[in-house]
Amino acid sequence: MREQTQCTQGGSPAKDLADWYQLNRRVLPWRQTRDPYAIWISETMLQQTRVDTVIPYYDAFMSTYPDVRALADAPEDEVLKRWQGLGYYSRARNLHRAARIVVEDFGGKIPDTEEGLKALPGVGPYTQGALLSIAFGQPVPAVDGNVLRVMARYQGIADPVDSTAVKRQVFSAVQTWLNEVSPQVLTQALMELGALICTPRSPSCQQCPIAASCEALKNDLTGMLPVKSKKPARKVVDVAALWLEKGGRVLMERRPRQGLLAGMWQLPAWELNRLTPIQETRVLDLVRRGYEELAAARADGENGVPSQFASSQLDYASFAVRESGCAPSDEGTQSGLDFAVIGQERHIFSHVEWHVKVYRPVGISLPELSVDEGRYEYVTREDIWSLPLPRVYEKLLQSILKVKG
Ligand code: ADE
Repeated sequence: MREQTQCTQGGSPAKDLADWYQLNRRVLPWRQTRDPYAIWISETMLQQTRVDTVIPYYDAFMSTYPDVRALADAPEDEVLKRWQGLGYYSRARNLHRAARIVVEDFGGKIPDTEEGLKALPGVGPYTQGALLSIAFGQPVPAVDGNVLRVMARYQGIADPVDSTAVKRQVFSAVQTWLNEVSPQVLTQALMELGALICTPRSPSCQQCPIAASCEALKNDLTGMLPVKSKKPARKVVDVAALWLEKGGRVLMERRPRQGLLAGMWQLPAWELNRLTPIQETRVLDLVRRGYEELAAARADGENGVPSQFASSQLDYASFAVRESGCAPSDEGTQSGLDFAVIGQERHIFSHVEWHVKVYRPVGISLPELSVDEGRYEYVTREDIWSLPLPRVYEKLLQSILKVKG
């Protein structure tokens, strides 16, 4: 993909870096264009996501939505579907909303000023810098985690790189460099150096074009820098999901419009606090009651959603604690309703970890439930795959429905 060439050093660091980039850069699809729309899509996808993962998504997205009008005209569900698997779905929803703003308020032209870009949802300081420098050639820094790492080492910064003071310091150093060489080249050169040479672990300092003036290398600190402030531990959340199938159609729930995985589809589910094995018996109560309320709503001729389903954060403490056993229990038999766990999966998000179990009622004949259309829908097994599904539910559904991933 690229040629590795030793760089002669002697100019300024910015120039050495720019020369190195011209000789060593990878050929990547978004580097074949100056189209601001294409660069915006790529920079949005590349946030929190590796280049190798992004390439096929970028190619497919650009074929489906080759310009901002095509994206603005698409339904949100379809855009989310194209994004499925890339994660951080608010990026896709924001891109879509922003595309509509570009069409309506900017005549279909991506703004080329900080002020204009600020009006677009999801376009923060990093994306502004990337667009202004790469697409419009303006000397505006784009500082992401890679650039912070490179510059923290280069300047020997021992304070946490996620602090505002360090971000400012790095922004200002990059701004100085941007005045010396083409912004389009320098922004990408810094990213490339972070990706290929100044990597998080085992950086290849012998091949670094700016090693001669690197403070971390001089002081033998590359292994210690950058310093990051300690993040709170990731919270583990148990999720109980319900499998209700009638006549080959499966009950699906659309997640709320705000928050984690907003607007995506899943099995009807509740988030619970961390469970001990004994507490798990309560989940069966919960799922049973949720199911029974759904059935009762139907019997009353209501078209509403039972309260159990209306709240994703359930306080299960109010449910009776059974003394023994997690498996489908005596109590289940009493109400004629028991459950089998038919799938389980874990998923790690940046701040939370989900442990999802899917419960299927057994030993009863299901009534046709009447549910709030829009939030709940019975979907055929085939149509499930056209819904935007969080990765964890996609995996669960593939395994329950025995479909190859
Ligand atoms: N990471 C963020 N932006 C990038 C770009 N334009 N090329 C490669 N990696 C990147």
